[in-house]
Amino acid sequence: MTGILAGKAGLVTGGGSGLGRATALAMAREGARVAVADITEEAAASTVALINASGGQAIGLGGNVAVEADVAGMVARTVAAFGRIDCAYNNAGISPRNVGPVGQRTHEMSRQSFDDMLAVNLTGVFMCMKYEIIEMLKQGGGAIVNTASIAGLVGLPTATNYVASKHGVVGITKTAAMEYAQDNIRVNCVNPGYIKTPMTDPTMAARFDLLMEKVPMKRLGVPEEIAEAVVWMLSDKASFMTGASHIIDGGYYAA
Ligand SMILES: NC(=O)c1ccc[n+]([C@@H]2O[C@H](COP(=O)([O-])OP(=O)(O)OC[C@H]3O[C@@H](n4cnc5c(N)ncnc54)[C@H](O)[C@@H]3O)[C@@H](O)[C@H]2O)c1
Repeated sequence: MTGILAGKAGLVTGGGSGLGRATALAMAREGARVAVADITEEAAASTVALINASGGQAIGLGGNVAVEADVAGMVARTVAAFGRIDCAYNNAGISPRNVGPVGQRTHEMSRQSFDDMLAVNLTGVFMCMKYEIIEMLKQGGGAIVNTASIAGLVGLPTATNYVASKHGVVGITKTAAMEYAQDNIRVNCVNPGYIKTPMTDPTMAARFDLLMEKVPMKRLGVPEEIAEAVVWMLSDKASFMTGASHIIDGGYYAA
């Protein structure tokens, strides 16, 4: 295999759908062996089948990123299969509608909804980084990309829990980047705007025109437009990039 990730081994969480699936496919196209992890094991298996059908090499893993033993297991099984873990894309995430009623302002949101969101979107990323970095330190380096969001940089009404989780991802990305800069481990995050995936389909069905008023390009992104950047950030081509928030949003943040 040739490509900018040739010879590398990677792990993608939330790899059964949306941004995770597109990135797993792009990583494999660029020569990486890829462990595709998802809470929905069948979805991970579908991504693996797509990779294997196109001549790549992948394994599928089940597991919930909010459960520490599952995360430790995902990393251990990746290393057992490939001998190492060079690139990790910590991407599994949920939206406010997964943890409570939609449209709630801060005073209406339950503590449970807030905690459930952080467990997946923030604690999940923390735990993935922890176990990946343990392996990367042993092998002498690696690269991590976390999925944040434009909601990690700006407020988003009726999404206090989501905004907290994504601002947290930006913060722990910066901190880990500083902590491991001398260990040959780079840590960055990607901050997508509105991208067409199963996560955003219900929101777009209800509010597409309203939301597009804030997007200069007046369209949704597609998962491949995030995947190409993530693959580059995971590759040695991004060798001086660490601690960065890479915004890909059709101009939302600039406007
Ligand atoms: N789609 C967008 O517009 C957009 C914008 C900014 C950020 N994001 C972020 O991108 C990431 C991927 O979102 P997407 O749009 O591809 O959504 P998606 O729903 O298509 O994919 C998310 C995947 O994560 C998996 N997952 C959910 N909870 C999990 C858990 N606890 N453990 C393991 N896997 C789990 C799901 O099964 C699913 O396969 C999320 O972190 C999301 O917050 C999405």
